[in-house]
Amino acid sequence: MSFLRACSLSDLAEDEPKRVDLNGVPVAIVRTEGEVFAINDICSHANVSLSEGEVEDCMIECWLHGSSFDLRSGKPSGLPATKPVPVYPVKIEGDDVLVSVNQES
Ligand code: FES
Repeated sequence: MSFLRACSLSDLAEDEPKRVDLNGVPVAIVRTEGEVFAINDICSHANVSLSEGEVEDCMIECWLHGSSFDLRSGKPSGLPATKPVPVYPVKIEGDDVLVSVNQES
């Protein structure tokens, strides 16, 4: 599994998602509840950037129709989205946030 540097840990404000591009994959990096998560930035319902939504209780909410996705599993909590969004493994090394987009989990 190869990890790519996504951003600096110190660049991430709590509950403020940051969109990055990793090998052409749009990823929302989210720091919340003492952890850092990486989730594909595109809602599974339509082509909407999840990083523009709100973060609460380890979920990120799609601003367009309100489905929330679990940052740990990518699963939606309710309609209209029915499919999960890919989530990716994260490693922290010093101030570097590293993400592996090769293998979806
Ligand atoms: S586009 Fe995200 S819930 Fe509809």
